[in-house]
Amino acid sequence: MTKSFGSLVFTPAVKALQERYGSRRQYARLEQLGEMRGGLGPDEREYLGERDTFYMASLGESGWPYVQHRGGPKGFLKVIDDTTLAFADFRGNKQYISTGNLLTDNRVALIVVDYPRQLRLKLLGRVEIFEGEKANDWLPKVRDPKYRAVTERVYVIRIEAFDWNCQQHIIPRYTEEEIRDVLEPIEKQMEELQKANEELRRKLSRLDGKETS
Ligand SMILES: Cc1cc2nc3c(=O)[nH]c(=O)nc-3n(C[C@H](O)[C@H](O)[C@H](O)COP(=O)(O)O)c2cc1C
Repeated sequence: MTKSFGSLVFTPAVKALQERYGSRRQYARLEQLGEMRGGLGPDEREYLGERDTFYMASLGESGWPYVQHRGGPKGFLKVIDDTTLAFADFRGNKQYISTGNLLTDNRVALIVVDYPRQLRLKLLGRVEIFEGEKANDWLPKVRDPKYRAVTERVYVIRIEAFDWNCQQHIIPRYTEEEIRDVLEPIEKQMEELQKANEELRRKLSRLDGKETS
């Protein structure tokens, strides 16, 4: 079971603003509806399985929020069960900001965007980090042997709430793979047209030759 997203993020200050700008009643209703939702369902599972990027925010001891981009092979953010996600934390610039932040506050906010379909899923959860021998059971669940990266640890996120966002202001963007898929039939057609054009040119020059001789 997860909680309603609003119950975690609608603070008194947020609710006061919703009252002031006339949206409180609508969001109070959504909060109640959200409470009846179970965990991550087939839609979320399918959605996360197709993503190769997400952004994760954590909180530092200084109180500053910190957001980092995470990327990997498609589906690297694994849905373990209806309230658990996990991913391999690859070796990077060795700043360890997220990992350090999580030592003092285990809460994270994730946003996972599908730019072509203009969708985004927000998730809130608590992270448990598994390193060294303790990661042994988790590594096979998160590692992709074909992907070239060193896994330093495994982040396991117990999801407490999630919410789908509206589509507004998501500008569609496409990955190389998605562009290739779209361009492939067009490139084939171009090739065929080029060949047909060359053939026609050859025929025309043969005809021209006959006329001048
Ligand atoms: C050689 C190398 C250099 C990197 N440099 C940066 C960088 O300058 N800024 C950045 O945000 N990420 C950089 N990254 C990616 C991060 O290391 C990676 O996203 C990691 O998850 C960062 O976690 P953290 O921001 O929580 O410390 C680099 C990765 C590698 C392998």
